[in-house]
Amino acid sequence: MFKLIMADVTHICSNSMTLGRRKIWVSTCFCFAVIGYFLPNIFYSFDGKNLYQPLDAPIYQRLTLKVNNTLDRLPRNSLPLKLTEKQHDRLQVRVTTEEKNEDEKFLLYWPHGGFSNQIISLQRAAHIAYASNRTLVLPPVLPHHTFKGKLKYPSYGATSPKQCEKEKQLHQLTKAAKEVDDFPSYDALFNFDSISKKTRGLKVIDMQKFSRLDYINATDFSTWCVDIYKERSYCLYGSKENLHTKIVQSIEAKCSEKQIAAIGSTFVVPTPANAKEVRNWNEIESYFNQMELSRDMLILLQTIYKKLPQNYTGAHVRITDNRSCNPKKTCEVTCTRDEHRIAFTELIKDIDAIPNTSHVLLGSGNEVSLKCFKYYSKEKYVVTTTQDIVENDPELLQMVDNIGSEKETVFLLLDQILIGIADNVRMKFAYPFDHPLKGSTYQSRIQQWHNGRKRILDAMDQISLSYDKLVTKKDAVATF
Ligand SMILES: *[C@@H]1O[C@H](CO)[C@@H](O)[C@H](O)[C@H]1NC(C)=O
Ligand SMILES: *[C@@H]1O[C@H](CO)[C@@H](O)[C@H](O)[C@H]1NC(C)=O
Ligand SMILES: *[C@@H]1O[C@H](CO)[C@@H](O)[C@H](O)[C@H]1NC(C)=O
Ligand SMILES: *[C@@H]1O[C@H](CO)[C@@H](O)[C@H](O)[C@H]1NC(C)=O
Ligand SMILES: *[C@@H]1O[C@H](CO)[C@@H](O)[C@H](O)[C@H]1NC(C)=O
Ligand SMILES: *[C@@H]1O[C@H](CO)[C@@H](O)[C@H](O)[C@H]1NC(C)=O
Repeated sequence: MFKLIMADVTHICSNSMTLGRRKIWVSTCFCFAVIGYFLPNIFYSFDGKNLYQPLDAPIYQRLTLKVNNTLDRLPRNSLPLKLTEKQHDRLQVRVTTEEKNEDEKFLLYWPHGGFSNQIISLQRAAHIAYASNRTLVLPPVLPHHTFKGKLKYPSYGATSPKQCEKEKQLHQLTKAAKEVDDFPSYDALFNFDSISKKTRGLKVIDMQKFSRLDYINATDFSTWCVDIYKERSYCLYGSKENLHTKIVQSIEAKCSEKQIAAIGSTFVVPTPANAKEVRNWNEIESYFNQMELSRDMLILLQTIYKKLPQNYTGAHVRITDNRSCNPKKTCEVTCTRDEHRIAFTELIKDIDAIPNTSHVLLGSGNEVSLKCFKYYSKEKYVVTTTQDIVENDPELLQMVDNIGSEKETVFLLLDQILIGIADNVRMKFAYPFDHPLKGSTYQSRIQQWHNGRKRILDAMDQISLSYDKLVTKKDAVATF
């Protein structure tokens, strides 16, 4: 039960919604976005290694050549931080997870769509990897499939179903991960160090590390067991209720001798009816519902959060992707369309009911959002967006730029979390009634961050205690 819609505009696109317990309606927009394979790699020409402070002597002796390699392999543009005690811990964890295990088997899946959809795919792939006793290979975080701007990571462009049909895209990603230094890793955004412990043994590995394991030749594609359980083209399997089990059985039947198995998109794999009885299901769900953030993200969040007024209200209106302001200046015609009028007046009514609200942080996905909010709230509130806060602050802009991910992706994650950790969050869905999309994955992510609000605020406090000074790129280069 899914529809393909050709969408032509900006970010935050695909959506799914759970109706009742099992039924999932999914609408996925695909665009044949420009893939930047041909763009010259001009963005990070300096040697990232120089950005790290030298190790102190005792710890230096404990670290082996492998750590040197690990340092080399840290995303070049990850935040150049001082190597605090905490970071040593992190390095050591990385070393132990790289230990050789020749019995280990791996699972790759095809990533695509917007950021929230990629997270959903990752979560569903994690269930399949665990059930088939394979280490999940974390793909690069890809830009939104409608993104048309300049890519920071030209080797990892947005994905269209056509590439998957040719069964080439996962190969290309793995090959690029092995050969190209820059890699938009999930590690730049999230911390997966505790995943194994919290999920009773689910293992994950970054695609770049996987591609460079010396005891397997990951780019010898003839050894891969590819495209198991292929039912339809476009790499989307459909949304049959028992699909999870079928894919797992298929991997066992067809790939038991193969170290590397690769499946299609896991985006529409529904939760099986008997999920509660599936071993480790709840642990994996709970891990992904409360994803831990990377140190770099926490520092960035903490820095922005400190600039926000106390007790701000988080608000998000999900607007059709291709909607723009008409007339450009006042947006009046667009704002008075039924779906917008209803959503914004209801939103403002909801906010009016929250005591002591003066400042609203509004989701920054679409220009219509900010203009219509102002149009209906008549300057009753100070309203701002994460994008505005960051773009008017060179220090924040530099920090965003230093996170090893596409800038758009960092903005999406910041936006979701900062709205989510507000004391109060109000959200509306402003689609025309006859539109097939009935819900927003983006808003469900905001809700999840809100549910884990205390945990994130605590983590942000912790990070600011353990962290003394951020060395900016410029400072670091000057130091050496
Ligand atoms: C790690 O790298 C440093 C600097 O490049 C070098 O001096 C050191 O010998 C290396 N350590 C090992 C164990 O190879
Ligand atoms: C799961 O995989 C590991 C290797 O990573 C292997 O040692 C273990 O025996 C496997 N377990 C089962 C139940 O197959
Ligand atoms: C890995 O496999 C590819 C493709 O078969 C081959 O070109 C390459 O030489 C292999 N590398 C190693 C280290 O075996
Ligand atoms: C924020 O909310 C708390 C509790 O709801 C209240 O005690 C405090 O005065 C509020 N701060 C501001 C600046 O409104
Ligand atoms: C926007 O997209 C919808 C489908 O999602 C389409 O029906 C509509 O014509 C598009 N509008 C514009 C202005 O492109
Ligand atoms: C609202 O603000 C007033 C004045 O600052 C304060 O006395 C009151 O406790 C606040 N109410 C809430 C619910 O935070």
